Formats: sequence, C-alpha cells, structure tokens
Amino acid sequence: MSKFKIYNVPPMSAAEIEQLGTKQKFWYYLGERKLLYKIGYDNSGEHWAEKIACEICTALRIPHAHYELAVYNDTIGVISETFVPSGYRLILGNELLAIFNKYDMYKKYKQKDYTLLSVLAVMKIHGLKTPFRFRRTKGIKNALSVFLGYLMLDALIANQDRHHENWGLVLNPKQGLYLAPTYDHASSFARNVSDKEKEERMRTRDERRSINSFVLKAKSPFYHSVDGTQLSTFDAFISASKRDPDAASEWLNRLRKIPSKIFRELFEMIPDELISQVTRKFSLQMLEINKERLLSLIG
Ligand SMILES: Nc1ncnc2c1ncn2[C@@H]1O[C@H](COP(=O)(O)OP(=O)(O)OP(=O)(O)O)[C@@H](O)[C@H]1O
Ligand SMILES: [Mg+2]
Repeated sequence: MSKFKIYNVPPMSAAEIEQLGTKQKFWYYLGERKLLYKIGYDNSGEHWAEKIACEICTALRIPHAHYELAVYNDTIGVISETFVPSGYRLILGNELLAIFNKYDMYKKYKQKDYTLLSVLAVMKIHGLKTPFRFRRTKGIKNALSVFLGYLMLDALIANQDRHHENWGLVLNPKQGLYLAPTYDHASSFARNVSDKEKEERMRTRDERRSINSFVLKAKSPFYHSVDGTQLSTFDAFISASKRDPDAASEWLNRLRKIPSKIFRELFEMIPDELISQVTRKFSLQMLEINKERLLSLIG
C-alpha cells in the first residue's frame, strides 16, 4: 500500500500569518493558489489526524477543506488550499452568533452561550446555500442537513473542537451566502493520549478503563440550551438529527456503506515515521467502535 505523499513547502514562502486559531500557521502562494501551512502541537499527531479526517470526509462526501501532509523547515504539518474564492469572505461562527444573540465572541471554550440550538438556528438563515459544488440529494438538501454531516463526522472521529471559529459561512454580496466546508479536524482520535495509556486501555479487562468506556468521554464544545450541560459529540449529533431526520439517516447510510477495510487502509497510508503501531491500532479501534455506535442509531 502506498503512503500519503509528504509535500514540501518552499523555503521563505510565508506570505501572511493567519492570526486565528492557536497553532502556528501561515498562508503562502503557489502560482495562483493560496495555501495554509499549519503545524500541530509537538508530537501530537495532529498532522495525521487532519489528513485521515480529510480522507474520511471524501469517503462520506462531506464538503471539506482538503489537507495534505507537508514539511516546512524540517517541520511536519499540513497544507490546505483556501476554500474562500477571491471576492468572498469567510464569516466565522462567533461573528454570526454575536449578530443574532448577546454572545461573547472571544470565549472559545467553556462558553455556556454556545448552544447547539443557536448554531442550528444560523443554519436556517434565509437563503443560506449548501457549500460550493456540493451535490444536494433528497435527504441532504440544505445547509442544516450538511452541517449534520459535520456533526456525524465529529462523533465518528472524536473531534472535540467544533468551537465557534471552526465553522462558518462564505459570503459574496452578489453571489450570496454559503455554508463553508468543514475544516480543522486536528483535535481528533485521542491524538494527545500517550502510547502507554493507549496500550493499557486496549489490554485491560477493567471495563471502566477500556477503550469502549474511553470513547464515551468525547465532548463537543456545544452546550444544551435548557439544562446548560456540555454535550458529548454523540449527543450533539443525536440532538441535531431531530431537526432533520432525513438528512441524519442519509449520512448514517453513507457511513454504513463504507467498508471497514477503507479505514484500515487509510491508517496504513500514514508514513511510519509519523505514527506508532499502537496509535494506529488504537485509533482504528476508536473509529470502528464509533462507527458501530452511530450505525446503532439507524432505526
Ligand atoms: N482551507 C482553508 N481555507 C480558508 N480558511 C481557512 C482554511 N483553513 C483554515 N482557515 C482559517 O484559518 C483559521 C485557523 O485555522 P485552523 O482552524 O485550522 O487552525 P487551528 O490553530 O487549528 O485552530 P484551533 O485554535 O481551532 O485549534 C480558521 O479558523 C479559518 O478561519
Ligand atoms: Mg481552528
């Protein structure tokens, strides 16, 4: 099986620093193309997590920013071509929530006003279109139905980072308003848990320490609007599904059709120097367990 290619970012190519987000990153140009190079936290595996998430999006036909592994000055990271065409602007979730509600746009985490309901309300903005080039279907017909796909992805890959700067809308005053494709999936797959802990969790007979219990802990940054509790990645998807059951069942059916061998092959394609065997095995098990949990929702 061939490995994912690692691209080279040309030396001295940084053209613009991207201020948003917490990781080191810059924009650079390759001819007409504008790309973002981003470094993950040290030894975190965020580069491979981003690449695997991108490939899973492709398999599920979820509109997404494309990512490739890339090296700049001997440092591994990822590159992603901008999904914002010239003449368009990306409006992030926090800006939108601040327009509609009293909302502190600078508080990214532990933000009780960041309710799932308020985000789903944004998806209902009159005239909001699905992402560019997305092929609508009977079940996945509008921005809300596409966003549901992002939430299913988060549950599948344990992405705990769908905060208010990790989704948005793309605007051109003449062409209209579109949901942005999904991006920034670096905080997925328990990539910050040590190999020692992963091994232990795969081996233990203690159900509470097991990988099955571990996957239940994945939290989303969304809060419940009524009782103020933080939702798990699964509860966020389940709760949002109630607003668009047809879309939810189509996303789940797409997931059902992905053979397990595809996930295995994707993990095999990560270059060996970027991931340990233990992490490969653990992440794959997480993915399989989450897939089964999601498929059990099919009524
Ligand atoms: N492919 C892309 N096209 C257009 N804009 C992008 C793209 N990738 C990232 N961005 C913009 O850059 C910002 C930072 O990127 P990203 O979210 O990947 O970084 P981060 O440091 O991982 O963020 P976080 O703090 O959420 O972990 C995003 O919020 C978005 O505004
Ligand atoms: Mg981000």
